[in-house]
Amino acid sequence: MSNDDKDKKSSKLWGGRFSGDMADIALNYSESTEADAEMIAEDIWGSQAHAIMLAKCGIISEEDLRKILQGLRKTEAEYERGAFELKKELEDVHMNVEAHLREDAGPEFAGKLHTARSRNDQVATDTKMHLRSRILDIQEALAGLQNVLLARAEGHENTVMPGYTHTQHAQPISLAFWLSSYASAFTRDQRRLGNAFEIVNQSPLGAAALAGTSFPIDRELAAELLGFDGCHEHALDAVGSRDWAVETLAALAMLMCNLSRLAEEFVLFSTYEYGMIEISEAWASGSSIMPQKKNPCIAELARGNTGAVYGRLMEMLTLLKALPGGYNRDLQQDKPPLWHALKLVHNTIIALTAMVETVEFNTEHMREVVGKNFATATELANYLVAERGLPFRDCHEIVGQLVATLIEEGKTLDDHEDVQRILADEGQELSVEEIASVCDPQACLARQCSLGSTGPESVKKMRTSLNEKVQADAKVPWERMARLDEAHARTSGIVDAILQGGSPDDCGL
Ligand code: ARG
Repeated sequence: MSNDDKDKKSSKLWGGRFSGDMADIALNYSESTEADAEMIAEDIWGSQAHAIMLAKCGIISEEDLRKILQGLRKTEAEYERGAFELKKELEDVHMNVEAHLREDAGPEFAGKLHTARSRNDQVATDTKMHLRSRILDIQEALAGLQNVLLARAEGHENTVMPGYTHTQHAQPISLAFWLSSYASAFTRDQRRLGNAFEIVNQSPLGAAALAGTSFPIDRELAAELLGFDGCHEHALDAVGSRDWAVETLAALAMLMCNLSRLAEEFVLFSTYEYGMIEISEAWASGSSIMPQKKNPCIAELARGNTGAVYGRLMEMLTLLKALPGGYNRDLQQDKPPLWHALKLVHNTIIALTAMVETVEFNTEHMREVVGKNFATATELANYLVAERGLPFRDCHEIVGQLVATLIEEGKTLDDHEDVQRILADEGQELSVEEIASVCDPQACLARQCSLGSTGPESVKKMRTSLNEKVQADAKVPWERMARLDEAHARTSGIVDAILQGGSPDDCGL
């Protein structure tokens, strides 16, 4: 402990103007070590980059830099061994890392690290650094889910099943069409996440408390060492804004919404009434009282967790509403909603991916039910339009009356002779062969030919283009991950060079 430390009346690193310590209850209420534990690696990397930049700009000496980097390496090693625990009494990750550095490098060196830096720009920097990696993890996992959906769709372009509107049988579609619809929806989630990454990945470091600094710092150099795409230039805006966190949560909320719709269809389609899919036992659970039960609990929880992610978005929006400019301590509350939502979304994607991978399709049952509930009625009306040149509205009326009569007689469009008789009564003579081919769900599926339709050729084409899109989209997060790793490796290489007696001037900065 240095002489200055002994003379302090407050034990805090910020305690100069205080005559005593914070009340325990106040400390417990305000410390953020639990959420901050996620950002230890980022705080160390950020501190290394800041120190290198300070030395490169001549603000601290090379000797100061070496001592600081030595200390930070020790902290890093301890963290990597799992032995670096954040102390609550030190409030947050920044104070914990600095306190550790004081022990390792001595207060005279550790104290210099905080030149031209504030916890306000530091916390925004750490949060963004952690967030951007988690966004990329989610994009990678989502690409995995898209790949599995497309892989399961393969070969099912002719597997017919009921397509629904209003949760009622509408028209026949293929199993591949249903599965690939989710891969299609997720391409937009990929785009939203990619946009969020771009908004997040601008460096606040060097904005200091709010006004920048009178030291001749090089913010761009620090940003580059930390893998940022550039600087969040305006200092007051850089420390006081969290709209980038909202942007991320909004992308996560929308993604979770799409995931919940997939989960919901798994729940519905696995019921006795639908009977179209069988969820693997590994992704279902039993009942403690009803021995026969196999419940789709994982899909239900995916559906249920969606509310929590929406809530986290609302929490963040409300946190920011009408907040005065600059850093406010309220902003500390940005991390729990972010981390929680990221974790829920990631876990949900992983669970649903495995579920899609292992689900069994009851294709015979799909074929059986699709023929029983008038799903080809629209195609029959279309046929009358095409063959008889009648207006579509008239054909709609004719087929509508046909359906009503069939229902009355307890028949379906599969009863071709009855269909022929009733249509003839309505003045439309069709052969049984014609009716059989038009009302056959399989043949109906095969006839769909418009762009994006459920027809086998169209679905094959979409599967190929979606597949290409998924692979191309996935490259972006992979390249971004690689750039972050490169930036980390570069900073680490500079740290090594300086620890071995090199100068920042020889490090290609
Ligand atoms: N724990 C704080 C947070 O997460 C760090 C910044 C605190 N700044 C301050 N001036 N008290 O926001």
